[in-house]
Amino acid sequence: MTRLTLKLTTSFVAPGLVALGLIAAAPAVQAEDVEVLHWWTSGGEAAALNVLKEDLEGKGVGWQDMPVAGGGGEQAMTVLRARVTAGNAPTAVQMLGFDIQDWAQEGALADLNTVAAEENWDTVVPAALQRFAKHDGKWISAPVNVHSTNWVWANKKIFDELGIAQPTSWDELIAALTKIKDAGYVAVAHGGQAWQDATIFDAVVMSVGGPEFYKAAFIDLDPDTLGGAQMVEAFERMETLRGFVDENFSGRDWNLASAMVIEGKAGVQFMGDWAKGEFLKAGLTPDQDFLCFRFPGTQDTVTFNSDQFAMFSVGEERRDAQVKLASSIMAPSFQSAFNVVKGSVPARTDVSDADFDACGKKGMAELAAASSSGTLFGSMAHGHAAPAAVKNAVYDVVTAHFNGEFDAATAAEELVNAVDGAQ
Ligand code: GAL
Repeated sequence: MTRLTLKLTTSFVAPGLVALGLIAAAPAVQAEDVEVLHWWTSGGEAAALNVLKEDLEGKGVGWQDMPVAGGGGEQAMTVLRARVTAGNAPTAVQMLGFDIQDWAQEGALADLNTVAAEENWDTVVPAALQRFAKHDGKWISAPVNVHSTNWVWANKKIFDELGIAQPTSWDELIAALTKIKDAGYVAVAHGGQAWQDATIFDAVVMSVGGPEFYKAAFIDLDPDTLGGAQMVEAFERMETLRGFVDENFSGRDWNLASAMVIEGKAGVQFMGDWAKGEFLKAGLTPDQDFLCFRFPGTQDTVTFNSDQFAMFSVGEERRDAQVKLASSIMAPSFQSAFNVVKGSVPARTDVSDADFDACGKKGMAELAAASSSGTLFGSMAHGHAAPAAVKNAVYDVVTAHFNGEFDAATAAEELVNAVDGAQ
């Protein structure tokens, strides 16, 4: 059986290489193999992916790995476009929210309705995920998890040493960060990449105006909200947070920022719960070595994203392995084993939290509570609030502002224009 690893980076999709046919020349996939494109290249992510690879190996399905480094998946989506254009779609692709619907709209995805009906996916997958996993009544992808983006990951030793209690409001957060900075630590471990800036912005927007404001701005894309006084305040809060990052933040990968908290160099990281995968991989224990709590001011809300494996239309000979992959992903025991390692929570409502650690149990309970109280919203930064064009427009403004290109009032104006232009 072919065991092949294609190390792909963004440079791989340089137009010259595409023209030379290098992408089209990717080796043929054996019928019993699945070729999977994904961006899970950090230590914690790779550990979680191994759970899936091993599960499939046990079922006689081989794995052709197609990793494309780059948190948030932007680079992976660029490589995917090149692969599909070259007529060589992978079997399955890690994908977020609106991107799945866009590919379905193009008619590129396979129909999973038979296996979905056999396994009752309709009754066990929450509606918030089905909204992305189904298109025109057809299942087209298999959701593997639910992540949420409004978390804080804190070094417990630093908090204890400085006598800091978990902050529950913006003012308490700023007081805590000031203490950490004054003690000589980096207060906020951050990587200056557009998707990471936007991940913080999700939480900051929610903290400023709560669920109605978040919804009006990011789901409804209401221009008055996008350009209003509360949005100016959100940008002002980003400026305040910018004062707590270290001078080497620019371009840093998210997992290296997690490492700063893990190693006791930094106090906190604002990041989705994939960060927990890094803490666990480093042998750390929640509540003992690190703390997980909601971004202050967003305690009763969850901004989520769900990694799904979108299944591409492949030849009949590769269908069997593809369906086995989908079925493995949806199995309750796999959903527990995988998400325990990944930091996320199951994409099914019928999986026990018994094997999850304190942060995982909290994540599952809060997701269920937010879902029933109407305070669960798709993450803008992670493709679950609006289509990619809008998301990228938001990235541009948030990042330009975070790097000092314009002040908060101008940023809010730019946001209105950028979102308008992207629709
Ligand atoms: C997110 C994805 C997570 C994690 C993260 C960083 O978009 O949902 O699974 O991989 O990017 O790479």
